[in-house]
Amino acid sequence: MKKAAVFASGNGSNFQAIVDAAKSGGLAADISLLVSDREKAYAAERAKAEGIPAFVFHPKQYETKAAFEREILSALKAKGVEWIFLAGYMRLIGPTLLEAYEQRIVNLHPSLLPAFPGKDAVKQAMDAGATETGISVHFVDAGMDTGPIIAQKPISIEKSDTLDSLTEKIHRAEHSFYPYVLQKIIEEKAKVVPK
Ligand code: GAR
Repeated sequence: MKKAAVFASGNGSNFQAIVDAAKSGGLAADISLLVSDREKAYAAERAKAEGIPAFVFHPKQYETKAAFEREILSALKAKGVEWIFLAGYMRLIGPTLLEAYEQRIVNLHPSLLPAFPGKDAVKQAMDAGATETGISVHFVDAGMDTGPIIAQKPISIEKSDTLDSLTEKIHRAEHSFYPYVLQKIIEEKAKVVPK
C-alpha cells in the first residue's frame, strides 16, 4: 500500500473524499498524514475524526518557505510518505519538497488548465462569461498550476448557474474524479518505477 499525505488549507472536502476512497478500497493508498498551513482549517478536524495524524504549521513563524518545508519534509519522512496529494493547498510548493518528491506531487485545480489558474478559478470562469469550465489533475512543478496535466473533466456553465451552484457542481465532480485519477496515477507509476 502506497503511503500518501494530503495537503489542505481549508474545508477539506476533497481530503475527506480521498480518505473515503482509501477506506472503501477505491484508492490503494494509506493516507498517513494531513499537512495544513492553517490551524483553523476544517480539514484538520476531519483528520482528527478519522484518526489521521496532522502536521499543522504557521507559515508566519518561519523566515522562509524552505524553513517550513524542511519541517514538513521531516514529518513526511517520519511517516514514510511516498506521494503528496494537494487538495485545496493554497501555496506554491518550493524546491525543498519538489526535489524530494519529484513527479510525486499531484494537484487538483477547479478549471480546465491552462485556463483560469491561481485563486478563485471558479469565479474567474464565471466573470469571463465562459460556457464551460471543469477540473484538472496535474503534476506539480514550480509554477502556479503549470505542471503537466494528467486528466481533465469538463463541466458546463449554465445560464442559471450562480457562483455557489457552479462551485457545488465542481466540488461534487472533484470528489469522485480526484480519487479515481489518483488511483490511476499510482497504478501507472508502479508499472514504470516498481517500488
Ligand atoms: C477545490 O475545489 C480545489 O479544486 C481547489 O480548492 C478547493 C478545495 O476544496 N484548489 C485550488 O483552487 C488550487 N489552486 P476543499 O477544501 O473542500 O477540498
